[in-house]
Amino acid sequence: MKTCFFVLISLLLLSSGCNQNLEVVNSGERLEDSPRPAADPNARPLALAGEASGEKKIPPFVKAYFMHMWVEALYSKPQNKTPNPHWESPLMDPENGRVWCTDCHTSGQIDFEKIPKIRDPMVNDLEKDKEFMVALMKKWVARLNSDEFFAKAKLKGPVTCLTCHATNPALEN
Ligand code: HEC
Ligand code: HEC
Repeated sequence: MKTCFFVLISLLLLSSGCNQNLEVVNSGERLEDSPRPAADPNARPLALAGEASGEKKIPPFVKAYFMHMWVEALYSKPQNKTPNPHWESPLMDPENGRVWCTDCHTSGQIDFEKIPKIRDPMVNDLEKDKEFMVALMKKWVARLNSDEFFAKAKLKGPVTCLTCHATNPALEN
């Protein structure tokens, strides 16, 4: 399964190059034809991310990189700067019951799980941008623990910042 996925991603990268892939992703969903459930205030059409809210505009594929990092941190040691030294997976079944993109991205209009993990140069700066990271991570953790989405049912209990971080990054200077 893992190998399969890897091969698929390699093929994607080889055959079309990153940019082309990303065009496909970008043109997928639009505000006009995107009926979003009331329960999902964070879901935003890819192409318009950030514009309406006045947030910094970050390309969706860059966010996808972080999403991959966090999903991995639910079943393997987190790769953040100061991981919780006593980290253990918050999943009931870290092998067969992993949280996946489609647990939170439920619109079905964009196949989120096909967005590959690409480390864009922008990631270097964003990783150090505390405000950005904290805001994105708060939304992500909220959806993880939410009854409205499918991830919660796979957790042993609520996930907090301290599940993965040695200290709460939102409180540090
Ligand atoms: C626990 C819930 C959760 C999981 C699991 C999850 N995401 Fe997300 N994702 C979110 C939330 C919440 C946002 C909105 C954050 C924001 O844009 O500020 C988001 C935003 C995104 C965006 C940006 C969308 C935009 O409009 O800019 C992309 C791309 C994305 N996720 C891809 C993925 C991929 C790929 C995976 C699987 C590896 C994944 N996500 C798994 C909750 C999740
Ligand atoms: C499931 C594990 C997990 C949880 C829960 C989590 N984080 Fe993170 N966090 C990560 C990972 C993995 C990275 C590294 C992402 C990267 O740099 O690519 C990270 C990076 C960060 C960073 C950038 C600095 C660093 O330590 O690498 C900040 C700031 C941050 N997280 C804040 C938070 C806050 C605030 C919360 C709670 C709302 C939170 N995180 C919850 C896994 C987690």
